[in-house]
Amino acid sequence: MKTLVIGANGATGIHLVNQLINMNQEVKVIIRMTSEYPKSWNNNLHVKIIKANIYELHVNQMAEYIKDCNAIASCLGHNLSWKGIYGKPQKLVTNAVKLLSDAIVWNSPNRPVKFVLMNTSGNNNHDIPETNNVGEKIVLGLIRLLLPPHSDNEQAAEQLRLRIGQNHHLINWVVVRPDTLTNEKNVTPYTLHPSPTSSPIFAAQKTSRINVGNFMAKLMTEDDLWNKWKGQMPVIYNSEQ
Ligand SMILES: NC(=O)c1ccc[n+]([C@@H]2O[C@H](COP(=O)([O-])OP(=O)(O)OC[C@H]3O[C@@H](n4cnc5c(N)ncnc54)[C@H](OP(=O)(O)O)[C@@H]3O)[C@@H](O)[C@H]2O)c1
Repeated sequence: MKTLVIGANGATGIHLVNQLINMNQEVKVIIRMTSEYPKSWNNNLHVKIIKANIYELHVNQMAEYIKDCNAIASCLGHNLSWKGIYGKPQKLVTNAVKLLSDAIVWNSPNRPVKFVLMNTSGNNNHDIPETNNVGEKIVLGLIRLLLPPHSDNEQAAEQLRLRIGQNHHLINWVVVRPDTLTNEKNVTPYTLHPSPTSSPIFAAQKTSRINVGNFMAKLMTEDDLWNKWKGQMPVIYNSEQ
């Protein structure tokens, strides 16, 4: 199996790539020209590094990059700087999901490609449906207004939920929703839920980035897990809070 990972050199992306490598999977990563990434990837035959700006790629270029990939994962997110939050491209993740979906369709592969998108517990799955209480609605409205990356995350997930939908013949997807991200050295027990079990606004739980990477890697490599969560937006929490 070969997986393309975007946002691969981010705090979660690195864990995902390293865990795929440990599972003996082939990985392609798209990394910006000047961005840093683990030097060990340079000498690893399982990793192919593509130096490019994802938002400058055309669909035919992306189609070429992913034509030998049967899975795609995004850990892309806005950098936590003024430029990252308020500068362009404001629809970084949404446009990347659209570009990658269009590239899969362009290639028209024989079997559906797995697409795993890292998202947030602060985004609802409207298929279920999930609702927010008044307090959560007010806070989420303010977040949407003041923090454009949140809207980007919401719209990125909607690209898969609505534009691709449940029965696409070329693309199957899972949207992974961690709660408050933390850094841990090792994978620890974690739980998965169709919807948040506590308010992401008023009673947020912890999810370590390495656990997110572990779940995403397992989703792409374990058919039973994939079939269990396909077309859904699982929420992931560390077991120990
Ligand atoms: N913070 C939380 O508690 C929380 C909770 C739930 C979900 N999330 C979501 O999870 C996402 C990932 O989290 P993280 O901590 O792993 O993120 P991160 O370390 O900030 O990584 C972000 C990745 O996106 C890339 N990126 C950023 N701006 C880019 C641009 N303009 N063009 C191309 N690539 C760009 C970065 O590459 P460069 O090195 O090239 O910049 C990096 O690979 C977050 O963005 C957020 O939406 C966060």
